[in-house]
Amino acid sequence: MKIVNSIKELKSYLAEEKRNNKQIGFVPTMGALHDGHLSLVERCVKENDVCVVSVFVNPTQFGPGEDLEAYPRTLEADCILAGKMGADIVFAPAAKEMYPSADMTWVEVTGDITKVLCGRSRPIHFRGVTTVVSKLFNLAQPDRAYFGQKDAQQVQVIKRMVKDLFFNVQLRIMPIVREADGLAKSSRNTYLSQEERTAGLILSKSLRYAEELFKQGERDSSRIAAETAKLIGSEPLSEIDCVEIYELPDLKPVAGDITGSCLLAVAVRFGTTRLIDNVILEVE
Ligand code: PAF
Repeated sequence: MKIVNSIKELKSYLAEEKRNNKQIGFVPTMGALHDGHLSLVERCVKENDVCVVSVFVNPTQFGPGEDLEAYPRTLEADCILAGKMGADIVFAPAAKEMYPSADMTWVEVTGDITKVLCGRSRPIHFRGVTTVVSKLFNLAQPDRAYFGQKDAQQVQVIKRMVKDLFFNVQLRIMPIVREADGLAKSSRNTYLSQEERTAGLILSKSLRYAEELFKQGERDSSRIAAETAKLIGSEPLSEIDCVEIYELPDLKPVAGDITGSCLLAVAVRFGTTRLIDNVILEVE
């Protein structure tokens, strides 16, 4: 497996693969790879001739006071894991390579889709994500790109960007990967104390409860959200950021009963760590 730091080298390697009609698959990450990322790499390797994994802690998606400095950086281990899964290239550029000048072009999806949920407490986050993902798509020119459903809002934002900007890439969205006890895998789980980690289990538990209510015929979105929030709130270490239901794909508020396909998303702080999780509630 090749480790590439420069845009020039990445482009020349991939140009050669393209000349040979190879299909390029791409898994963008910020590193600290866990089983969630590896499920994306595994699928990417299966479906493409060449699998490119980017490892880049993207500064523009972190707001002031967020965890940019503390974000785990484990490039060596990431390369070993990606290589074991069959990745062909890890692209790990420096920030200066991706953002050579302070004056720059932004790619921003506007509207509710980026304003609700995480967009409310992290107002510049999605602009940073769409900007860096556009840059990475332009560099790798992938046939397919792989994202995890755990970042459900990010998935909808990127789908919209790809549609609006006519990116020639197929998006593949892979299911949430969980620990045996239900905690959704996340690079940020490493910030949790043992006590906070145990408390964090309330997220998957409350989402399972919401799903059960829905299966039993509950359709009132306010009631489902309220019951979910009540259960999360019963965990003393939890501090709720949001427990909300939105219509898919545009993340418009649900008026009353759930009719089509909706996202129930939760974001909750345990100490200084903000965890997210979600489930899709779909009327057949
Ligand atoms: O999901 C992530 O890890 C990041 O938001 C992404 C898509 C790699 C962009 O930096």
